[in-house]
Amino acid sequence: MIEVIKALKSEIASTEINSQDELEAFRIKYLSKKGLISKLFEDFKSVPNEEKREIGQKVNELKLFSTDLYNTFKNKLQDNGQQLSSIDFSLPGEPIKLGKRHPISQTRQEIVDIFARIGFTIAEGPEIEDDWHVFSGLNFPEEHPARDMQDTFFIHKKPDYLLRTHTSSVQVRVMETTNPPIRQIFPGRVFRNEAISSRSHCIFHQIEGLYIDTNVSFADLKQTLLYFSKELFGPQTEIRLRPSFFPFTEPSAEMDVYCTICGGKGCTVCKYTGFLEILGCGMVDPAVLESSGIDSIKYTGFAFGIGIERIAMLLYQINDIRFLFENDIRFLEQF
Ligand code: PHE
Repeated sequence: MIEVIKALKSEIASTEINSQDELEAFRIKYLSKKGLISKLFEDFKSVPNEEKREIGQKVNELKLFSTDLYNTFKNKLQDNGQQLSSIDFSLPGEPIKLGKRHPISQTRQEIVDIFARIGFTIAEGPEIEDDWHVFSGLNFPEEHPARDMQDTFFIHKKPDYLLRTHTSSVQVRVMETTNPPIRQIFPGRVFRNEAISSRSHCIFHQIEGLYIDTNVSFADLKQTLLYFSKELFGPQTEIRLRPSFFPFTEPSAEMDVYCTICGGKGCTVCKYTGFLEILGCGMVDPAVLESSGIDSIKYTGFAFGIGIERIAMLLYQINDIRFLFENDIRFLEQF
């Protein structure tokens, strides 16, 4: 019988238990009422008295050993199970950082929406242009300083290819291909060979507007710009039109709005004038209409070009244009 106990012990000791099913099988095989250890206790009854002490001890040891082993495996399996259920599904998740649209994009969208409400549709043109669409088609004389390398980024000379210096180039493209009435805006990037400072950058954004129909007057232009300014800056907004000059408009004007940074008191952004220039505008020069194939007796029109950076700076009280190009996340997160 000593031999049987020894064999059983080594069998039990080498048992591997990895699942609840195996654990239960182990219990039934060794520890249940009909299990092998109970059977040993049965057999024990017929052991001669003089051996009872030694064998009894061994059987008891085996029972204890098996029970301990059973409990150890049982706890181990329970722990594994518990690890799964110890995940607290009600805890808040890892936050996912959401990006935002750049303040320039937000401002552009706002301006586009304002003009869309009075029937302007959107068109776009290329950033790399030829001389005709940026200068000649817009009535720029041959010796105009804008045609100087110092002001314009040329890509190729003779024939001239350049980065457009204003979105007015899209005016020409649209007039060449569209019959009036035309009521469109052209948002886009423009490039000028300028020193970078708090007020100007060599890359910036404009929204051009073009309205051509019969009987379009300067009063229409003025009211359109007033509507635009009030929608953008609020009903109290005042505008100021100053006579100006552009080769492609006659008469021409520049429009100012109250400086929202200093409230009109004077600051570095408005150069202590209380006003900020935000756009150039005018009645489309008949010569420009004609050179694009539009009858200047029948049709008149107005055009304007808005600087998006300027507007964004006014809306969000940004006092340095360079912030808009550095893409510092701490700056961008504020919008
Ligand atoms: N293109 C001019 C500029 O960039 C602005 C402008 C547009 C002026 C349309 C008049 C009419 O300065």
